[in-house]
Amino acid sequence: MVDEHTYKPNPAKVVKIIDETPDIKTFVLKFGKPADRKHFSFMPGQFGLFSLMGIGEAPFSMCSTPKDPEIKISVRNVGNVTNSMLTMKKGDLLGVRGPYGNGFPVDEIKGKDVIIVAGGIGFPPLASTVEYILQKRKDYGRIWVIYGVEHVNDIVYRSSASRWKRAKNLEMITTVEEKCKGWEGCVGLVTDPLKKLKINPANTVGLSCGPSVMLKFVSQAFQKLGIDDLDIHLSFERMMQCGIGKCGHCNIGDKYVCRDGPIFSLREIKRMQEEVW
Ligand SMILES: Cc1cc2nc3c(=O)[nH]c(=O)nc-3n(C[C@H](O)[C@H](O)[C@H](O)COP(=O)(O)OP(=O)(O)OC[C@H]3O[C@@H](n4cnc5c(N)ncnc54)[C@H](O)[C@@H]3O)c2cc1C
Ligand code: FES
Repeated sequence: MVDEHTYKPNPAKVVKIIDETPDIKTFVLKFGKPADRKHFSFMPGQFGLFSLMGIGEAPFSMCSTPKDPEIKISVRNVGNVTNSMLTMKKGDLLGVRGPYGNGFPVDEIKGKDVIIVAGGIGFPPLASTVEYILQKRKDYGRIWVIYGVEHVNDIVYRSSASRWKRAKNLEMITTVEEKCKGWEGCVGLVTDPLKKLKINPANTVGLSCGPSVMLKFVSQAFQKLGIDDLDIHLSFERMMQCGIGKCGHCNIGDKYVCRDGPIFSLREIKRMQEEVW
């Protein structure tokens, strides 16, 4: 529904900053008015458009959960807006509009085992998903969280991950591509541990977010495990401006990633009239 909030950013204050890695920070944001937080009611996998006055606007997925009073985003420094965001201090204001997009089908997959595969800065919407599932733990079966980064210094959410590792029926595997001294976890691609899982494919869904090329190989690994195309859900990134299917900046074939995505099932992806990877 397009209403007065659709394009209008509401101010939110930076109340906490977590230094995750040398180029990634997590910002905890509090809206000035409780009504603005109420309006920014989102599900895991949805995104918002976050703006800095005089600099610009960029999309980020929330890594917090719908229930949290504040919203959290993790930002990696890649260019104009993100570079300025990383210089923000406690008390600074950001414009926030949204939420946009469809989100992961977290309620539809209740009762199922869930494999979550995150690559690099694709982790935020899946971190929100893990927390959401843990808040409703008995509604889901077994959970695997497989997280891949290039280097051990790129690992984010270390304290959340150590909490998740202690959760019942949840296996968390972090894998680094570059072997280094002191790292005792997995070394290799994020698809390596995925190939070794023993699952019941008829009752398992696969969720993933990360670089496009990773999504291609993760979806192939999900398929090799026997998971149906309809149960494989992948979150895509495209350049965005409006966030609501009006400007035409984010299309893949006849789909708009901002409005019809960013999450598509592998079934939908196979039907797209354009190379998506
Ligand atoms: C739905 C969605 C959710 C996202 N969630 C997160 C998140 O949680 N954390 C995070 O750090 N980033 C996230 N991103 C990516 C983030 O939006 C971009 O990194 C940001 O827009 C870059 O803005 P900039 O002005 O700093 O970079 P620019 O100066 O505009 O560009 C720097 C470089 O990055 C490339 N680039 C910019 N935006 C994108 C994009 N959307 N896709 C591919 N390449 C791009 C440009 O081509 C250029 O090479 C998300 C993107 C989308 C579409
Ligand atoms: S960002 Fe404008 S159509 Fe998707």
